[in-house]
Amino acid sequence: MSIALTLTVNGAPVTRPVAPSTLLSEFIREHLRLTGTHIGCDTTQCGACTVLLDGRAVKSCTVLALQAQGAQLTTIEGLAQADGTLHPMQEAFRQCHGLQCGFCTPGMVMSAVDLATHHACGTEQEIRDGLEGNLCRCTGYHNIVKAVQQGAAAMKA
Ligand code: FES
Ligand code: FES
Repeated sequence: MSIALTLTVNGAPVTRPVAPSTLLSEFIREHLRLTGTHIGCDTTQCGACTVLLDGRAVKSCTVLALQAQGAQLTTIEGLAQADGTLHPMQEAFRQCHGLQCGFCTPGMVMSAVDLATHHACGTEQEIRDGLEGNLCRCTGYHNIVKAVQQGAAAMKA
């Protein structure tokens, strides 16, 4: 059985038939081919699959696709401007070397955008607490914290 899922993805209307058991992460990667959203664990631990649903960060492996009915979905592909200008948080990760292999980076960036938009993130501790649901195997987090500080300041400016 399939049900029509209608939502807005990175600013564009989308309607697709999906099975009730389809995860949002699976819908994003396999139905929409937006493979910037990564799957690290599929068990709600790593945060690599984080996207924005109605402006709030969610782990898309934890949400059924049909729960996004009518929602505004933003994936990492939707952050930059149409001319390729990076979102301030993406630019800060680039400038601060906030990534190495890059596997965690889309989820980190999406969580950081939510953090900078909805929560206090002025201090290192606030950023570390805010990103506790996102795991990185590479960086030791130091440059990620610097990137989020810089990105959050740029977003406010
Ligand atoms: Fe969703 Fe790891 S793949 S939290
Ligand atoms: Fe490699 Fe984070 S940069 S997992």
